[in-house]
Amino acid sequence: MTAAPTPSNSVSPTQTQTVSIALDQRGYDIVIGSGLLDAPSSWLGLPRAAAAVIVTNDTVAPLYLQRLRTQLLAHYPRVDAVLLPDGEQYKDWATLNRVFDHLLASASDRKTVLFALGGGVIGDMTGFAAAIYMRGVPFVQVPTTLLAQVDSSVGGKTAINHPLGKNMLGAFYQPVRVIADLDTLDTLPARELSAGLAEVIKYGPIADAAFLDWLELNLDALLARDKAALAYAVKRCCEIKAWVVGQDEREQGLRAILNFGHTFGHAIETGLGYGAWLHGEAVGCGMVMASDLSVRLGLMPAEFLPRMQRLIARAGLPVVGPDLGAERYLELMRVDKKSEGGAIRFVLIEGLGRAGLHAAPDELVAEVLASHCGVSA
Ligand code: NAD
Ligand code: GLY
Repeated sequence: MTAAPTPSNSVSPTQTQTVSIALDQRGYDIVIGSGLLDAPSSWLGLPRAAAAVIVTNDTVAPLYLQRLRTQLLAHYPRVDAVLLPDGEQYKDWATLNRVFDHLLASASDRKTVLFALGGGVIGDMTGFAAAIYMRGVPFVQVPTTLLAQVDSSVGGKTAINHPLGKNMLGAFYQPVRVIADLDTLDTLPARELSAGLAEVIKYGPIADAAFLDWLELNLDALLARDKAALAYAVKRCCEIKAWVVGQDEREQGLRAILNFGHTFGHAIETGLGYGAWLHGEAVGCGMVMASDLSVRLGLMPAEFLPRMQRLIARAGLPVVGPDLGAERYLELMRVDKKSEGGAIRFVLIEGLGRAGLHAAPDELVAEVLASHCGVSA
């Protein structure tokens, strides 16, 4: 894999930054900065329609819905809101149907623009609703968690969960714009900020060794929600993701690297029941296990594992996984979307800033589980 493009110089928090996703007619801008929710320029030039429908949840709505609605009323004759219950456990068909119930009951036509106001759960569900309502309507991502700003709102993966597997029902469907207002992170609970840092950290080992160094130096500033540090991290993550998605939108190869830590992580989420661990927590712990596997397979030197463990723990994330039993972990991981013919394939680090897909013997995986989840090998 060639190296990700080098970052531009440090970012002022008040300066609006734009990262573009280059996908021809489906390309779009990710706009990052402070004060964007209330800035009329954020909402100019979007597709015109008789109605805009904001999909959000009952936690985010009291914080930001009215402000977004006020801006959108300058552009759309009708602006509705659909409030979903909050939580990963509601990322399912029954809850998604509430969006369709509203769209159909309000006779929303195929030009209706959906706005996803919230974290990754709302973004993934709204994107999937937009992909299949009347075979596709435009949607805008307005991510309000760190995780959503650095990852889920970008790149067009949309999905809901199935009881047997995480994000198993979905579509690739790109938004028409992403508006990432850094000020919305002020109200994010600390545990959610940490969860977002898991996805931030992943970009270092998979694509940018210098970003990993930067994170080690600036993690405390990120935890303290320093706006300049957040602005730089969100922009750098979006640059890397844009570079990956621009080459491999539908995950035929390269895009899988964005799943570092996710094979173990999704097993934790599904195995414990959705919502027990946050997605970012499961990914953080999964990155510890995937780092260990990278070392055990001889792809990385031994010191890589403690380096990752330290950073992930400093971010406030768990580094010890739940004991689901080795067999159950393996069973859950075989359902992973990267598996082929029942063979699990892990994203492993092949050198700092470089990753690829690898198979591993079950016995070695069991040793990793024994080391980090206390399961008997
Ligand atoms: P989330 O959407 O559940 O949001 C986390 C919590 O923060 C929720 O309780 C939410 O209501 C609350 N919240 C959101 N914004 C807030 C704010 N500004 N202030 C206060 N509270 C706020 O979780 P998440 O971590 O944002 O996203 C996780 C989801 O994203 C998972 O379902 C995961 O599968 C998905 N994901 C998708 C992709 C992708 O490429 N599509 C990538 C990574 C993760
Ligand atoms: N979050 C993984 C991806 O977008 O491919």
